[in-house]
Amino acid sequence: MCGSVGYIGDKQATPILMNGLLSLEYRGYDSAGIAVIENNEITVMKDKGRVANLKAIDGIDTLTSQVGIAHTRWATHGKPSKENAHPHVDNHNQFAVVHNGIIENYHELKEFLTQKGYHFISQTDTEVIPNLIDYYYKNGISDEDPFLRAVKSAVDNLKGSYALEVISKLFPDRIIVVRKDSPLVIGKGKKENFVASDIPAILAYTKDFYLLDDYEYAVIKQDEIHFYDNTLLEHSKAIKNIEWDATSAEKNGYEDYMLKEIYEQPNSIRETIGSRLKLGEPCSFDDLDFTKEYLDTIHQIYIVACGTAMHAGLVGKTALERLCHIPVQVDIASEFRYRDPIIDEKTLCIYISQSGETADTLAALKLAKSKGAKTLAISNVIGSSITREADYTIYTHAGPEIAVASTKAYTSQVVLICMLAIHFAEILDCKQESVLENLKSDILDLPTKIEAVLDKAEEVQKFAKKVYTEHDMYFLGRGTDYHVAMEGSLKLKEISYIHSEAYAAGELKHGPIALIENGITVITILTNPDLVEKSISNIQEVITRGAKTLVVTNQKLSNVNFDYVINIPETNELISPILSVIPLQLLSYYISKNKGLDVDKPRNLAKSVTVE
Ligand code: M6R
Repeated sequence: MCGSVGYIGDKQATPILMNGLLSLEYRGYDSAGIAVIENNEITVMKDKGRVANLKAIDGIDTLTSQVGIAHTRWATHGKPSKENAHPHVDNHNQFAVVHNGIIENYHELKEFLTQKGYHFISQTDTEVIPNLIDYYYKNGISDEDPFLRAVKSAVDNLKGSYALEVISKLFPDRIIVVRKDSPLVIGKGKKENFVASDIPAILAYTKDFYLLDDYEYAVIKQDEIHFYDNTLLEHSKAIKNIEWDATSAEKNGYEDYMLKEIYEQPNSIRETIGSRLKLGEPCSFDDLDFTKEYLDTIHQIYIVACGTAMHAGLVGKTALERLCHIPVQVDIASEFRYRDPIIDEKTLCIYISQSGETADTLAALKLAKSKGAKTLAISNVIGSSITREADYTIYTHAGPEIAVASTKAYTSQVVLICMLAIHFAEILDCKQESVLENLKSDILDLPTKIEAVLDKAEEVQKFAKKVYTEHDMYFLGRGTDYHVAMEGSLKLKEISYIHSEAYAAGELKHGPIALIENGITVITILTNPDLVEKSISNIQEVITRGAKTLVVTNQKLSNVNFDYVINIPETNELISPILSVIPLQLLSYYISKNKGLDVDKPRNLAKSVTVE
C-alpha cells in the first residue's frame, strides 16, 4: 500500500520521480506528491487524486533539483486530500519524509510534540515523523552524523510499520532511508542512486538492487551508499541483480496491464515450470532439500495466504492431499494469525504471496516460525519480506504483475504448488510413478492449452456485453471447480463492482437458492468428470427458477439447455483450474471495460496490502 520513490544523482530528479510514481500507482492512487531540494530549500508539490494531477501542477516541470522523494498514497489515517498527501515536512521546513506503513502510536507522539511547541497540518500519522526528526536534530548531543542520528532517534520512538525516505535541506547530498515491515529497495546506478518501495519503479534505470532489511538504515548519496544496523554500526551489503527487464513491467501495446497479464499466461507458466519438471525425471527444486526422513515426520501442512493467493492454496490442498496423503488445512492469513493455530515442529506451513509483502501473511509466517514449524514461501518477488523470513522459498517466476487484479500470479502459484506436491510424493515414494508421469505430461501441455482457451476471448467478450449491467451474479462448482468459482467471483467483484457469490454447487439448496430469480446469471465450472452429473442437476435447479446460465467446461455435454457454454481443453483435475479460471478472468475484464471502469486500478484497492 502506497508507493514511494527517491532519486539522487546528476540528472533532474522530477521526471525520474514522476516515472517512478506512474509505475507505482498500483500500490495506491488517492493522492500524490514530491519534495525536492531547490535553491537550498525544500519544495513540496502535492495534490489529491492520481499522479496525472500532480504532473499538471504549475511549475513542476521547471524544478531543476537533482535530489528528491515522491509518494503515491493509499489512505489509512486521514482522508485523501492535498494536506494528507505525502511528502510531509516539519514545522521549520528542514526535513521532508515519505512513509509507507502505519505509525500506531502517533497520538502519543503528537501529544509529546505539541507540548514541545509543534503544530500539525494533516490528519496523518506520518506528520509526526519529520517533526520528531527536527526535534531530535535540535536536541541532539552528537556532532557526528547528526542527520542520521536524528532520524534514528525519531525511528526509535515509532511503533508500527514503516518504510521511510527522508531528505533535509541541511544535508542536500543525501537521502536517508530505513524500514520495518514495509518494503524498500535501493537501486545502484552510475553517478546516481535510487530508492523505491518496489522494484518496477526504478527498473528502467538499474537492475542492481540492495534489499533493505528491517531496522536497517541506508545513507544514499550520488556516488556512495552506506548501510547501518540498528545501532548505527556501518556494514557492507550484497547487491542483487534482478533479471526482470523494464519492458516486462510495461503494457507493450495492450490496453491494460490486466489484459496483458492474462495473455502472458502461456509464457508465465512456462517460466514457472522452467527446468524443474521433465518427463522421466524426478521433479527438482534447487532451493529445497527436504528429505524423506523429514517429510515422514510431517503430520499436517498449513497453507496460509490472502485473497487470490489463498484461492491458489485451496487448489494446492487437493494436489498435496491426493499425491502425498498428508492432511492440509488452508487458512486466511488474517484469521490464522489471531486464532492460536495448533502447529508445532511436525507442521509444515506454506505461505503464498505474489508480492511477498502482504502484512497478514508475513505476520502469520512469523507466528508459525515462533511455534517451531518449518516455513516455505511461494512468491513472485525476489527478496521480498516473506521470502527473507521463510526457511525455504520457491519463486513463481511469473514476471512483474502490475494490475491490482491478480491473474498470471494465480495460475503460476497453482502450477508451482502442484509441482511441489509431485516433488514431495516422489521423495515420499507414496504414489504410482505412472500417475505422476501423466500429471507431469499434463503440466507440460498447459501453455498450449492456455493458448487454446485464450482463443475463446471473443465468445467471453460477447457474453460480457450481455450481462455487464447486472447487479448480482453467482458462481458454482464442486471440488476444485468450486475453488475456481471463488476466484472468478473475487475477480468480478474487485474490478467490475458487481456483487457476486461463489457456492459449492451442492450447498445451493441449503439457502442460497432463495436468491435465484428470473434473469439472474449463474456461472458454473464443470471440469471434474466424476461430479459432472451432480453439477448439471444443480444447474437445472437454477434454470427452473429462471436463471441465465454460462457453463465453462471441458466435458462433452449433450442434451443440455444452458444459455452459453465455453469449451476448454481437458486436463488433469488437479490443474484444470489453470484453464478454467481464464474465461472468468476475461469475463471480469470485459465487464469492467464495458462499464468504463479503470481495470488496473479498481476503487479502494491496492496491489500489495502491507497494512493489516
Ligand atoms: O501479494 P499477495 O499475493 O500476498 O496478495 C494477496 C491478495 O491481496 C491478492 O491476491 C488480492 O486478493 C488480489 N487483488 C486479487 O486479485
